[in-house]
Amino acid sequence: MTASLLPQYWYIVGESSELAKDKLLACQVLDEWLVCYRDENGNAVIAQDRCLHRCARLSGGAVQQGKLTCGYHGWVYGKGGRVESMPSESDNSHVAGRALSAKTYRALEQDGYVYVCLAPGSKTPDIPRPLVNPNRGYRGHVRLRNDFKNSLANCVENYIDVPHTAYVHHGIFRKPVGHALRTTVTRKNGEVHIAYLGETFNLGSFSWFLNPHGKEVVHTDHFYAPNITSVHYQLPCGFQYSITSHSVPMSGMETRVHTDIDYDFGFWTPFVGWLVRKQAQTVIGQDIAILNQQADTILKYGERFCSTSADAIHTLIGEIIESLKQGMDPAELSVEEREIVFRV
Ligand code: FES
Ligand SMILES: [Fe+2]
Repeated sequence: MTASLLPQYWYIVGESSELAKDKLLACQVLDEWLVCYRDENGNAVIAQDRCLHRCARLSGGAVQQGKLTCGYHGWVYGKGGRVESMPSESDNSHVAGRALSAKTYRALEQDGYVYVCLAPGSKTPDIPRPLVNPNRGYRGHVRLRNDFKNSLANCVENYIDVPHTAYVHHGIFRKPVGHALRTTVTRKNGEVHIAYLGETFNLGSFSWFLNPHGKEVVHTDHFYAPNITSVHYQLPCGFQYSITSHSVPMSGMETRVHTDIDYDFGFWTPFVGWLVRKQAQTVIGQDIAILNQQADTILKYGERFCSTSADAIHTLIGEIIESLKQGMDPAELSVEEREIVFRV
């Protein structure tokens, strides 16, 4: 069987600010248990969360000045995960002679996140995809983290699924009014780009603020293999916001989602951070409830979907993630350019 290509990509393990010099951070990516800490130079170290001695979780230990001490018998791990001390050994030359090292992974920091790559290979970018085009001029920023009990594919699909917004986020986002919404969908090289044409309808409770005259908004959604979605809205009054979600597959049915909301609401930008955070968390909470419920049903009855033309975006993304799992480069999938009409 061909090995999955998913481990070749970069995944967020936590925020840079969580990796204090004296703090261990435990996380899980693609079923691998990881412990993260900073070495004496402040560089992030990411190792398998398993002590080489007797398999205690290293994240249950302690770290000081770049030395991680296992909480069971006190083995000390230093730079690069190398075992530097075994306190129960009377002679430390024993340690030097064996050159033991915990299994470590490639780590990198960018945009205030710590990233890991489990198995660098041909699909591994030099750096993770940067968060927001710096030229867009967003001035406000809110960051959220949430855990879903559902798969990477189902989570990713949800974030750029427009039809559900009228039901799951009724009133906050949209109401089901049956407006036709034309879109162009392009899939190429592991990416899916969606442009919504002539979108003028209300944006829920905040329409009076965001789009009081119901003019056309510029709305594009994007998916970048294997786990990034990005939603952009540009409003006629000049306001704009962008929501980027990094979905980290912890296991087959557990996904941690890091959400970055960048916004520019003109004069109001410095004052609305709390409201953006509150509103975004309410919306994500509603998504968690429906996706966790979906996962329960999938676990009971299997993942059998009945897709329609309005599900084309899901299908195109699902094929990309599935191809990666099968060890196939998604660039080999067919290039698709479609026009879809939704009713929302
Ligand atoms: S299990 Fe870690 S030192 Fe023994
Ligand atoms: Fe949603």
